[in-house]
Amino acid sequence: MTKYSHLDTPFIDAVKSYVDKNRTAFHMPGHARSRLIPEQIEALLGKNVFKYDLTEVEGVDYLHKAEGVLKASQELTAAAFGSEQVFYLVNGSTVGVMSMIMSSVKPGEKLIVQRNSHRCAIAGITLGNVTPIWIQPEMIPEYQILAGVLPETLQRTIDENPDAKAVLLTSPNYYGMAQNMMELIRIAHENDIIVLVDEAHGAHFPFHPDLPTSSIDRGADMITQSTHKSLPALTQTALLHVNGNRIDLDRLTSVLSMLQSSSPNYLLMMSIEASRKMMSQHGMELWSRAMETASYAREELLKIPELQVIDESIIGKYGIVEWDSTKLSVLTNSLRHSGFEIEHLLNSQFNIEIELSALNNYLCFITGGSTKEDIDHLVKATRWFSENKGNTDLKEFIRIPQIPFQVYTPAEAFNQPYEQIPFKSADGQISKRIIAPYPPGIPYVCPGEIITQNAVEMLTQMKLDGAVVQGIDENEMVEVITE
Ligand SMILES: Cc1ncc(COP(=O)(O)O)c(C=O)c1O
Repeated sequence: MTKYSHLDTPFIDAVKSYVDKNRTAFHMPGHARSRLIPEQIEALLGKNVFKYDLTEVEGVDYLHKAEGVLKASQELTAAAFGSEQVFYLVNGSTVGVMSMIMSSVKPGEKLIVQRNSHRCAIAGITLGNVTPIWIQPEMIPEYQILAGVLPETLQRTIDENPDAKAVLLTSPNYYGMAQNMMELIRIAHENDIIVLVDEAHGAHFPFHPDLPTSSIDRGADMITQSTHKSLPALTQTALLHVNGNRIDLDRLTSVLSMLQSSSPNYLLMMSIEASRKMMSQHGMELWSRAMETASYAREELLKIPELQVIDESIIGKYGIVEWDSTKLSVLTNSLRHSGFEIEHLLNSQFNIEIELSALNNYLCFITGGSTKEDIDHLVKATRWFSENKGNTDLKEFIRIPQIPFQVYTPAEAFNQPYEQIPFKSADGQISKRIIAPYPPGIPYVCPGEIITQNAVEMLTQMKLDGAVVQGIDENEMVEVITE
């Protein structure tokens, strides 16, 4: 590499020196570098955001053909995260996962995909006209969470589909549970299959040894991480790492240019670079603090009678080999409320916003920015729920469905005619769309799959319990294929 050290920020420096030139502006964006800002937004954000809102001007390089400061910035980021090469992304892990799929699997070829993939994987499968071969991870029955894929499950799937080109694995899951990537990657590579990893929730892993090991270090071929999820970078920022020689880089850069804006936002990329510098300098200390804060939270929460939290005892079960202790998950059974109800009450009565709720749990993300006061507020609210229990009996769990029969691939389904019908009478119909509780956006039914009575009952109950389910509209209608 370069003359730069990990404390340098070549991209931010170049943007700053460009802005300092104060050039007369006859170019995009239309705010003429902060001279024409809608009042309301200027009052909220100030002028500076607009001053630095540049794209493709002289001296600050171009994301789709990085040769100068952005190239240097990406090289520094790759070095900090331990990968051979990295591409900055301005449309989240969504575009990273789509690009990993479309660059490594051609139309009609097979991609082995973990079933609890984010919906962006289905988008990549659809756009790339790829044939998905689903693999079911283990389920944690008491939490109704899909956890890790067992190595033997992957081996069996490969034995049945030796012509698969790549496998897309998601690790960690939303709850910070990481599966046996070392073994899964070994099996795939032994069978000449490319390994793509959705590590959207693991961008912080390279910066502390007590966090799970990043799949970058496990030898995966491509890894996508959302820098906006756990690092202090702006929303929509993400990284796509590449290792080894199995990836066709020309195809990958073509796909990235097709799927990403030709005017990538420089504020976003500046925030990636600044976060990388911050992690290189202070990552250890910040993540130590986050882990301490999360432990403090669990200790305090466990003082509430009967309350349960997810902790390291999960390691070694359900295909989970490592766990990110900054993820704070509370089980709501003893509170006799669903997680959805708790989320609503936390919002409306306690002014607390959490990351996610599910049927019987809720999840908070803890970072170096979380404080003891934040935790005390959460613990106080949770104690209130324990003293004022609800009426919801969560003992009778609804099961996560088996993978439904696939009649059409997602790309075929996308092109089929369809009609709307009431969801309650959709048993046996073929879904046109993804049907997925959101968040986390994991599909229960994918486009082209049969909607079973079991899925109808389960999702109806989830909606009654307060879940938002994408794919079922406000009139309880769904789109099904008519031919
Ligand atoms: C596992 C996983 N992958 C991908 C995504 C998409 O990430 P982004 O919001 O960065 O586009 C998400 C979003 O929640 C996710 O949870």
